[in-house]
Amino acid sequence: MRNTLIIGNWKLYGNDLIIQNLINELNKTLAEISKCLVAIAPPLLFIDRIKKNIANNIKICAQNVDIHISGAFTGDISIKMLKQIGVQYVIIGHSERRIYHKENNDYISKKYALVKSFNLIPVLCIGETELENAQGKTREVCESQIKCILDNQGIEAFKNSVIAYEPVWAIGTGRSATPLQVQHIHKCIRNYLAEQDETIAKTVTIQYGGSVNEKNAFEMINQPDIDGLLIGKSSLNATIFTKIVRIAEMKRT
Ligand code: 13P
Repeated sequence: MRNTLIIGNWKLYGNDLIIQNLINELNKTLAEISKCLVAIAPPLLFIDRIKKNIANNIKICAQNVDIHISGAFTGDISIKMLKQIGVQYVIIGHSERRIYHKENNDYISKKYALVKSFNLIPVLCIGETELENAQGKTREVCESQIKCILDNQGIEAFKNSVIAYEPVWAIGTGRSATPLQVQHIHKCIRNYLAEQDETIAKTVTIQYGGSVNEKNAFEMINQPDIDGLLIGKSSLNATIFTKIVRIAEMKRT
């Protein structure tokens, strides 16, 4: 019912050579992938070139978008421009943007609405900090990050959209949450949406992100409510990323 979705978030990494090698490898090794959806989120500068050279079954995701369509906003990029160069998914509210760029739930909600209005797919990142986790606030934090969008746009906004649960303490630390912890919180997220609309809740793709690698991917992806993975570091190594995609392609349904 829900497609498995693997996204490689390359963050601010890469150069001409690394990116050319990654494209070559992914084109070679992922050509026969059909059940699992695969997308990559490269630094913006490289998107146009990658889009022109990457296999059709690998989709392009942007790491961020501005809340304006056009205007005097130095350094920003609009949803219209991203759509024009073939972007299909947009990461919204990544914890690195919440922390380093002070993006709050209201601001993220505006971006979310904009992405939806252009018929692109938002990947809404949510997740608790280490302190919130220790205080037992994981569920509360995740729900509040979703609630802002529910309040502003209603449950319909979650049709054809992606939520990525990325606990802040698991990102880039090598300390992944356990598959059972992730399954539990994903189920809570789905139940929270189901309070508004059960059908939409059943169809929302819920990914996990945070220190995913080729060793923990199998158990993660085979949890019933883990519909995909948002992968940072491991997506910059074509061999590891490909292994994870193959694992996801075999997800038990
Ligand atoms: P890592 O896989 O490097 O922990 O990063 C996860 C992430 O932030 C993906 O968006």
